Amino acid sequence: MSNAAQHVAIIMDGNGRWAQQRGRPRLVGHHAGAKRIREIVEACPAVGVKYLTIFAFSTENWKRTQSEVSGLMRLFKRYIRRESQALIDDGVRVRFIGDRMNLDDQLVSIMDELELVTSHNKKVNLTIALNYGGRDEVTRAVKRLAREIEQGKLAAKQVNAKVLAGFLDTHFLPDPDLVIRTSGEARISNFLLWQSAYAEYEFIDTLWPDFKADEFSQLVSKFGSRERRYGAVS
Ligand code: FPP
Repeated sequence: MSNAAQHVAIIMDGNGRWAQQRGRPRLVGHHAGAKRIREIVEACPAVGVKYLTIFAFSTENWKRTQSEVSGLMRLFKRYIRRESQALIDDGVRVRFIGDRMNLDDQLVSIMDELELVTSHNKKVNLTIALNYGGRDEVTRAVKRLAREIEQGKLAAKQVNAKVLAGFLDTHFLPDPDLVIRTSGEARISNFLLWQSAYAEYEFIDTLWPDFKADEFSQLVSKFGSRERRYGAVS
């Protein structure tokens, strides 16, 4: 059986330190980080990755300074506008996960637009987690599920893992096979908590703005040579 990583998820960490090392403001690091995304997306087809999910902004990131948060929001808008043509040309279907409620209307409408204009693309599925947190996602899912029970559309005894997964933001995605975190921190920081139950993790020292297609491809190939047993015996 082929053991390719069909779905790779990335925690893009280290933008701030990258900027700091250069004596520049943190936002310079975020801009450099945003520029790395296209190369990684374009590297996916050659290594058999069909789904790439990236963590752009967490439900906890609102605690950063107001200037960093607003700078990031401006960056997301600019990035989406600037990259949409390249994403279309590369056959990339883009979807967003996370809570859109607290995002500004203009950002939400350009996110909706990008999802729409790329909806027929099939080569790579890029999912951008924006205002995303694993616990928040599960909480929102359970709320929707409870509402369906209240309305009599679903019975409590019908609820199982598959049914609950159908209420998650990621209902359209297979579970990640490999989760990569850059910049030397060995934490998952509330990213895809439910979905990563059987994922392999790679914590690497490279700061996100220095992460290149070569290193990505090597990690994906390394994954392909490992055996996964999902709790069973080989
Ligand atoms: C973590 O680095 C990075 C973020 C909180 C933001 C991730 C955003 C990008 C890579 C840019 C744009 C993304 C899109 C989709 C346009 P950090 O600030 O926590 O770094 P540090 O740990 O060194 O401080």
